[in-house]
Amino acid sequence: MDAVRSLAELRTICAALRSRFGTLSLVPTMGALHAGHQALVEAATVSGGAVVTSIFVNPLQFGPHEDLSRYPRDEAGDLARLQTWGCHLAWLPDVTSMYEPGNATTVDVAGPSEGWEGDARPGHFRGVATVCAKLFGQVRPDRAYFGEKDWQQLQVVRRMVADLLPGLEIVAVPTVREPDGLALSSRNRFLQLDERRLAPKLYATLSEVAAALGGGDLSGPVLSAARRQLQQEGFGVDYLALVDGATLQTLASVTPGARLIAAARLGSVRLLDNVGITQPGS
Ligand code: PAJ
Repeated sequence: MDAVRSLAELRTICAALRSRFGTLSLVPTMGALHAGHQALVEAATVSGGAVVTSIFVNPLQFGPHEDLSRYPRDEAGDLARLQTWGCHLAWLPDVTSMYEPGNATTVDVAGPSEGWEGDARPGHFRGVATVCAKLFGQVRPDRAYFGEKDWQQLQVVRRMVADLLPGLEIVAVPTVREPDGLALSSRNRFLQLDERRLAPKLYATLSEVAAALGGGDLSGPVLSAARRQLQQEGFGVDYLALVDGATLQTLASVTPGARLIAAARLGSVRLLDNVGITQPGS
């Protein structure tokens, strides 16, 4: 596996990979790689094209009160992992080459970036969309892989690509979980022991709500009871909502493609999770 830090090297190696493999797949990450990222890289290898993984902790998607300096970094470990997962090239830009002095362009996606994480983290999706647009322009992949774990992010990227880069295929990869159901996240390491024991309740609750709504229960009372239950367990519930899976608009009842999304805090850690809803006969 190659690892490059300059745009000039990136261009040379991407050209060589494209002529050898025919197509390029990109897996954008912020590093601190775990089995969730592994699922993305492995899904990309299955496509048969060359796999490029970017590692870039993007300052533009962190708010002024979010601790960018606390974001875990382990470049040597990440590169060793990428090699064993079958990645062909690691793209490791630095902040000044990504945001050159004088840079003046950002990407604002309306629609799916509004509400939920968009409210909790103002400017976050501008940062995500901008860095993804830059990465897509640098690597020029045929496909890019994103996790369902960050459902709203996935829809924001899909919307931007449909609007600006329609030739690029966005591939969604299901959420990878711990055996007890907790969605893998680089932030899980900050959970205290008692919080870690409680954390799987978020997914358990989402799964129960999904089953109840899939079985025809009314969403209003089911969602309120679930929020109350999580609060009683000790979660600070930012939201637990039934939304249209693509637009993130609130739904009053289940429709095809509906998604349950949640954000809940345990101590200093904000957990995000989401599940689909299967209706009998669908
Ligand atoms: P990061 O948090 O490193 O995540 C990189 C990719 O891995 C995202 O597409 C995310 O949804 C996916 N991922 C994380 N945990 C996962 C899990 N448990 N199961 C499946 N996929 C998982 O998301 C970002 O970085 C950044 O916002 C980025 C898109 C790279 C832009 O900076």
